[in-house]
Amino acid sequence: ASIAVFAPATVANVVCGFDVLGFAVNEPGDEVVMRMTNTPGITISKITGDNGRLPLNPLKNTVSVSVQHYLNSIDRTDVGVDIELHKKMPIGSGLGSSSASTVAGLFAIKTLMGDETDSSTLLPFAMKGEEMACGHGHADNVAPALMGGFVLIRSYEPLDVVRLPHPPGLWCAIVFPDVDVPTREARQIIRNKINMKDAVTQWGNIAGLVSGLFMQDIDLIGRSMQDVLVEPVRSMLIPDFYYMREMAMELGAVSFGISGSGPSVFAFTKNEQTARRVTAKLQQHLTKIGIGSYTYVSTI
Ligand code: HSE
Repeated sequence: ASIAVFAPATVANVVCGFDVLGFAVNEPGDEVVMRMTNTPGITISKITGDNGRLPLNPLKNTVSVSVQHYLNSIDRTDVGVDIELHKKMPIGSGLGSSSASTVAGLFAIKTLMGDETDSSTLLPFAMKGEEMACGHGHADNVAPALMGGFVLIRSYEPLDVVRLPHPPGLWCAIVFPDVDVPTREARQIIRNKINMKDAVTQWGNIAGLVSGLFMQDIDLIGRSMQDVLVEPVRSMLIPDFYYMREMAMELGAVSFGISGSGPSVFAFTKNEQTARRVTAKLQQHLTKIGIGSYTYVSTI
């Protein structure tokens, strides 16, 4: 038996919701092809699209490691599978690249095992993959990659994940400036302590964003998407971040911020045309300052 599974890129944090909010986009994403073998254990026979950056060693690859955790949990260490991983999105982009692969792998093994429990039961295994990838098992990429749409991680201990609605007609423009920002390092530079005034601003914004999602109020969503805790520090790792924000807002975006730990940035817009204008202009600017980029436009 064999199966091919696609899992999408995700935008984590959604500006004000560090580690607690994320959403999935239509493209890009990764594909895992998994097939049962006669020899117990996991092999990775092929990885494409990674420029040789990802390990074929199953003990070092986040996909196989999470699949192994899953197989251990259901007492099926007798099972043999071979994995092909087709990366169809850039690595280290802040678009949940490792999450997309891990989630595709977990969904594949769950299906091959005939396991009909809800996909959300895979979350803890996917979080193990994140922990391996960047030193911290956050769920704001893996949960939306697995469940689709907008997701809130209400609590990590115990894990409590809530799917949120979002207004129809919300578009997302994504630009990945091709510079290196490893998540592990982007987490290390964040302040550990915050002051009360900033906390008040931040939780007002998170509540505003979630209210806007329920009320289908795109303007409320837009004005709530401000981050006084993480963005001021991480924006330094992104070329011309504030200039790009100004450009996006002038072009009619309702919000602009860092996707996950960066360097990708994203903007919400009210239609496709504006989203395409934003990606085109930002790409043009990045080219002008000598930085290559990839762009994506998606509904949510
Ligand atoms: N919430 C995580 C972070 C997402 O910002 O570090 C990583 O993509």
